[in-house]
Amino acid sequence: MWKVSPSRLEDMCTSIMRAAGAPGADARLVAEHLIENDLIGHHSHGVIRLWDYIEAARRGELIPGASPRIISETPTTARIDGGWNFGQVIATFATGLAIEKARTAGVSVVTVRRVKHIGRLGRYAEQVAAAGLVSLIFTNGGGHGINQAPFRGTERKLCSNPMAMSVPSGLAGPFLLDMATSVAAEGKVRVYGARGTPTPAGWIIDSDGNPSTDPSDFAGGGALLPLGRAEGHKGYALAFMVELLAGVMSGGGISGDPARSFSNDSMIIVIDPELFLPMAELEERSLTLTEHLKDTRLADESQPVLYPGEKEAEARSANRGGDIELPDPVRQQLVSMLRRFSLPEPEPPSSG
Ligand SMILES: NC(=O)c1ccc[n+]([C@@H]2O[C@H](COP(=O)([O-])OP(=O)(O)OC[C@H]3O[C@@H](n4cnc5c(N)ncnc54)[C@H](O)[C@@H]3O)[C@@H](O)[C@H]2O)c1
Repeated sequence: MWKVSPSRLEDMCTSIMRAAGAPGADARLVAEHLIENDLIGHHSHGVIRLWDYIEAARRGELIPGASPRIISETPTTARIDGGWNFGQVIATFATGLAIEKARTAGVSVVTVRRVKHIGRLGRYAEQVAAAGLVSLIFTNGGGHGINQAPFRGTERKLCSNPMAMSVPSGLAGPFLLDMATSVAAEGKVRVYGARGTPTPAGWIIDSDGNPSTDPSDFAGGGALLPLGRAEGHKGYALAFMVELLAGVMSGGGISGDPARSFSNDSMIIVIDPELFLPMAELEERSLTLTEHLKDTRLADESQPVLYPGEKEAEARSANRGGDIELPDPVRQQLVSMLRRFSLPEPEPPSSG
């Protein structure tokens, strides 16, 4: 494992993206997004992703600096074409627009298409919660982005089709549900692969459809199972609905369409809760709910009941100011990208 300070890592990632053609502010935004994910323990959507982004830019599939275009809009809606820029840049813009519209009109629905990997959806749900609003976000994936088998199927047909929801809270972090509709995010299997450890049972099947815990079986053409394991019809049905809302309604298209480049097509819905009740009452009632749920006999005394989003909020405050630990293959990828662009390399990891 390689220990590195978040600020050094952010500078390295920013310089790589700038060298690949991204404007400085965009490169910094994407770097900050990736590093924050590593800091809160979502390594699946951390710096491990940068290699793919830079490769996509090299192939001309990701267009650094492309401006988002509003195809059409009303006071409550907008359809955005992302121009194939970094997903984080486009999704931050789209979320900002949805917030602006909901602040004036009370509710808004914004769709995005032709957009590369947007990363951790929770980031945009947090952006909405910080504005005192409620969010629902749905995202699919095009082309080769498929990695999830439909319930009763044995082949990759869907992306891990994530969804996020947030409600502002008066607690350390917003109430935040942010999840893949597969049993886990695909990036988590990559992290197990990079660390050389097996995945938990029930996550993946190999290319013949047999249960597996070997990340290389997944990389070799296996698939993620839908959320719910034996009851996977629920995860699969959620993934199906995400396809309709994010892929079909955005005009992007369906996961796995071979004619499409990978695109995290999305639908972002924002609601002003104060149309329904004052913010103070929302916070008070949701605190009562949280306390009611936490006040229970625990299955394991060391594992308290959490509110959705508490894990991320706790990790954020626990890791403030600390170093990030990354597996060696991720460091090697960074070094290789820095070399490609003739940028300064990090010190070799100390043996102590
Ligand atoms: N861009 C993409 O294409 C894409 C695809 C799939 C997933 N993702 C991202 O991958 C990330 C990880 O997804 P995942 O499905 O593996 O998520 P996860 O299993 O790590 O977490 C899911 C949710 O459960 C909540 N949670 C965790 N432990 C809890 C507990 N004990 N009590 C209550 N709530 C708890 C978390 O706060 C989170 O909201 C997400 O950020 C998601 O947006 C992105």
